[in-house]
Amino acid sequence: MTPAFETLRTPPPPPAGVVATTAAARERLRGHVPEVEWGVHRDYIAEILRLKRERNAVVLAHNYQTPEIFHGVADFVGDSLALAQQAAATEAAVIVQCGVHFMAETSKVLAPDKTVLIPDPAAGCSLAAAITGADVRLLRERHPGVPVVTYVNTSAEVKAESDVCCTSANAVEVVESLGVPRVIFLPDEFLGRHVASRTAVELVLWHGHCEVHARFTGDQIRGLRRQHPGVYVLAHPECPPEVLAEADFVGSTAGMIRAVGESGRARVAMITECSMSDNVAAAHPEVEFVRPCNLCPHMKRISLPKIQRSLELLRHEVEVAPAVAARARRAVERMLEVGRGGARS
Ligand code: 13P
Ligand code: SF4
Repeated sequence: MTPAFETLRTPPPPPAGVVATTAAARERLRGHVPEVEWGVHRDYIAEILRLKRERNAVVLAHNYQTPEIFHGVADFVGDSLALAQQAAATEAAVIVQCGVHFMAETSKVLAPDKTVLIPDPAAGCSLAAAITGADVRLLRERHPGVPVVTYVNTSAEVKAESDVCCTSANAVEVVESLGVPRVIFLPDEFLGRHVASRTAVELVLWHGHCEVHARFTGDQIRGLRRQHPGVYVLAHPECPPEVLAEADFVGSTAGMIRAVGESGRARVAMITECSMSDNVAAAHPEVEFVRPCNLCPHMKRISLPKIQRSLELLRHEVEVAPAVAARARRAVERMLEVGRGGARS
């Protein structure tokens, strides 16, 4: 009879070529993914790196992507603003958007001649789902002559109805760039309230929320401070006002990453999606990360196997009707113009 332990044999070592092509990713991920997981990720990473060359593709990954994507296969990582800028600038033929659907649409709007792929088309966003183009038209009727500033976390159809887009990194700057006393600001109520606290411009708000950030509470942050004395608290502006009132720093995902480095603090808490701390911890081994995070179920739909299939089969291609794309592009490009001169938070 065959002894049971024989079924637990160590797997054969990977081919030398795979070890060589994944060596850099291996170093970046060492200590950040369990050893046993690396064996699974390695073969996907090797194949994705090969397919990227074959397809002349770039992988754009949002800061909320898991470490094996963020550190393993991404060509560019960043917040919504940085990814939009990369999409506009890339010379690659194919863009694989590792993020949610509105981000892939923004890439297609800015790079209409490229093939833009999303590894899972069901990766949505509660903010983007909170408003339609018809809603924006009704708001314009109710507030004639008041310009519309739209957060990029919206569909291309909503962007097309807007005067200018913004991200959490440049919202105040974009609102003030219009030089008017009153602005319709859509669709994130909490980001809107945060912007309103930093500008004299009056904002007409919508009641959209991020299902991930809306779950944080002020009590949670106060509890965290009691349990972890001296902790530096950074929060994303999609969090409720009571949470932002307790934070030491409020900013976009990229702003939070910069602030961790600049703060010089030994213990930090990022009040945002879980993968942020995992990804930033790799660059800051000297910092202790307290992790009261919430997972974004939409961001987590993206995985290495889906990225591989996406590149292999050139699926799922993101399309935006040309007439909608042209109007949405105007709003996104106007935002990028504003951003060129100013500071970011
Ligand atoms: P950033 O633009 O700050 O990366 O935020 C995007 C997002 O979806 C946050 O939930
Ligand atoms: Fe949308 Fe919130 Fe997920 Fe960001 S974290 S993609 S705003 S649901």
